[in-house]
This record gives sequence, structure tokens and C-alpha cells, in this order.
Amino acid sequence: MSQHRVYTVCMPNTPHPSPLTRELIALIRERYALDWHGIHGASHWARVRLNGLTLAARTGADTRVVELFAFLHDACRLDDGYDRDHGWRAMRFTETLLGTHIFLPDRAFSLLMQACGGHTVNPSHHDTTVQTCWDADRLDLGRVGIVPDPNRLGTVAARDHAMIEWAYRRSIGRPLRQCTAV
Ligand SMILES: [Fe+2]
Repeated sequence: MSQHRVYTVCMPNTPHPSPLTRELIALIRERYALDWHGIHGASHWARVRLNGLTLAARTGADTRVVELFAFLHDACRLDDGYDRDHGWRAMRFTETLLGTHIFLPDRAFSLLMQACGGHTVNPSHHDTTVQTCWDADRLDLGRVGIVPDPNRLGTVAARDHAMIEWAYRRSIGRPLRQCTAV
């Protein structure tokens, strides 16, 4: 009998149903100009989503905004380098989806726009939901060889050493949570 080591992560309970529909993901994939499996592609977005939902359980961030940010903030990149304007392009793209693929109250949509638009240029934000989005993204820097710096994280939940280690390990493909299954 052989044993297979498998890794599991638990998706935190969220107060809202996920706004990430199959149709929205298909549209984002159609729009995305880079490698879907690259450093700014879908696996990064999935980790940002889980980082964000995990943080939101402590920060009280709007999970709808967190989930949409995860899959939209890098969707309009034109290269995997600095690409300073990709946040602004993501914001403009997000704007086109309101009422067809994104359904949010005005305030939540405004926060989503600010989170996408500002994530490339602003170090911090006064709103907890926006800051949670940015922390979720920065906690995934391990994939490009950077250990997240607590001084660049804005929420207490993200600066927690255990949170940084958990996210960092996932970002480099070595999840902390694991179980052994037969
Ligand atoms: Fe990102």
C-alpha cells in the first residue's frame, strides 16, 4: 500500500456567495494577454483570493470585493514586469463589467475600483477592504523570490507572522497545512 501526500487548504466561510462566475472567468481569460499559468496568472489570483478571504475573516473586509479584486487586478497586464498602468487598465476593464458580469452595490463597487486602480501606485489605503485586497496580493510575493515585508502590509491580520509564513509557503509551492491520505 502506498501513501500519497496531499495538501489541503480550507476556504473560509464567507458572508456572501462568490461573485466569481464561470462567465466572468471566461471573459477574463479571453482578455488576459499573458501566460495564464505565468507569475501574474490564474494560480496567483487563486492564492490572492484565499489570502484575501482568510484575512477578511479577521479584518471584516467585503469578501465580494476581495474575490473580484483577486481575479481582476492583474487581468490587464501587458507584460510580467513593472507595467505601472496595469492597475488603471484593470479599473477601466472592471468598469465595463458592471451590470453584466459584476453586480455590487455602489459603495462596494467603488472600493473594487479603488483597489484595482490603486494597487500599483499606492502603498496603503484608509479603507479596510481595499487594504485587505492589497495585503492579499503582497502576501503572494514569494512566487517571485520576495519574502513579504510586514512593514509593507497594512492590516494587523496580514502582519501576523503565522499568516505571512502560511502565505509565503503556498506562494513557493510548499503549503504549511498538509495531511496524509492513503
Ligand atoms: Fe497581483
